[in-house]
Amino acid sequence: KKVVLAYSGGLDTSVILKWLEETYGCEVVTFTADLGQGEELEPARRKAEAFGIKEIYVDDLREEFARDFVFPMFRANAIYEGEYLLGTSIARPLIAKRQIEIARETGADAVAHGATGKGNDQVRFELGYYGLEPGIKVIAPWREWDLNSRERLLEYAERHGIDIEGKTEDGGSPYSMDANLLHISYEGGVLEDTWTPAEEQMWRWSNSPEQAPDQPQLIDIEFAGGDPVAVDGERLSPAQLLSRLNELGCRHGIGRIDIVENRYVGMKSRGCYETPGGSILLRAHRAIESITLDRDAAHLKDEIMPRYAELIYNGYWFAPEREALQALIDKTQQDVEGVVRLKLYKGNVEVVGRQSPRSLFDASVATFEDDAGAYDQKDAAGFIRLNALRLRLGAKRGG
Ligand code: ARG
Ligand code: SIN
Repeated sequence: KKVVLAYSGGLDTSVILKWLEETYGCEVVTFTADLGQGEELEPARRKAEAFGIKEIYVDDLREEFARDFVFPMFRANAIYEGEYLLGTSIARPLIAKRQIEIARETGADAVAHGATGKGNDQVRFELGYYGLEPGIKVIAPWREWDLNSRERLLEYAERHGIDIEGKTEDGGSPYSMDANLLHISYEGGVLEDTWTPAEEQMWRWSNSPEQAPDQPQLIDIEFAGGDPVAVDGERLSPAQLLSRLNELGCRHGIGRIDIVENRYVGMKSRGCYETPGGSILLRAHRAIESITLDRDAAHLKDEIMPRYAELIYNGYWFAPEREALQALIDKTQQDVEGVVRLKLYKGNVEVVGRQSPRSLFDASVATFEDDAGAYDQKDAAGFIRLNALRLRLGAKRGG
């Protein structure tokens, strides 16, 4: 009867909008989110109006995205397969959540998205939908229709009077892209050959390290409760703070990666990503943790991190095991406060200082100078002897 469509205003989701009306004879509610992708949202509203859509949602979700999704994830120092900072993965559950809320508000019985049947995004959207609304009907047009080539899609668009301006081969981007406050991604096109380097014009956000200023820049990031709260002494909201770090990172050529990753559906996929602010934040967060976290609490976090990152990559944000791990991670963050000083220079983020009122670093214990009895070196002999006991027994047995 009624379906809530995650609508970008672009060609693909415009075709989906028409196709839903035509195929299901249903009323379509459009939902367009500002996640900090840096695009105007009013064109999407105007297009939806031009399609005769009556219920149009255009929501600014930037603060919620940064505060309730990006920051909790950064408390874990999450990285997928050693490289990917999960910029797209972490945005999908929020879009799913808002779509379900809108379905409830408008009495819709279905939701639809524009992700293909070959990727991760379909899984993330739909695990989100079902986890929040078990009875919801899900429509994934890319898995149903026969418009599986660019020509057929364009042909369908023209037949239905959909504006294809800027989406033709010369005007449109040759890449599949996704952007939000945390990152911008590029996949497909020439990147499908894993040996072909990305062209410099592909990168839309950041300076290349070569073009970046010759002068390094020092910045201070302040943390409270594991989250960044200020940059260079200026308190900023979560979304403002992330944009500020993005500006700084882009200027200094920070956060570009080119990787081949394993998708949840089984294939390997080449992708390029720009995560300027996130790359700075990760280094800073680790640095403040280095003085405020207990050693074994920190090591435990590092052990569960890959599992936590995989849960987010695979779409299990709203699953009980992600929430349980989050509770553990959050518990460790109580004393993660203080200031980190970083040097940004031509693609690099260097930590040059860290300090905290909750620091566990004790110079009187650690010093190479006279510690005035803070640490008794004689204790170390017994410590080592007992730890060596099983090694000596093993060595004595031989073999
Ligand atoms: N491969 C990345 C991920 O799975 C990026 C996906 C980008 N999505 C897109 N619709 N272009 O998180
Ligand atoms: C898509 O298939 O829609 C984009 C790529 C992905 O989801 O992994």
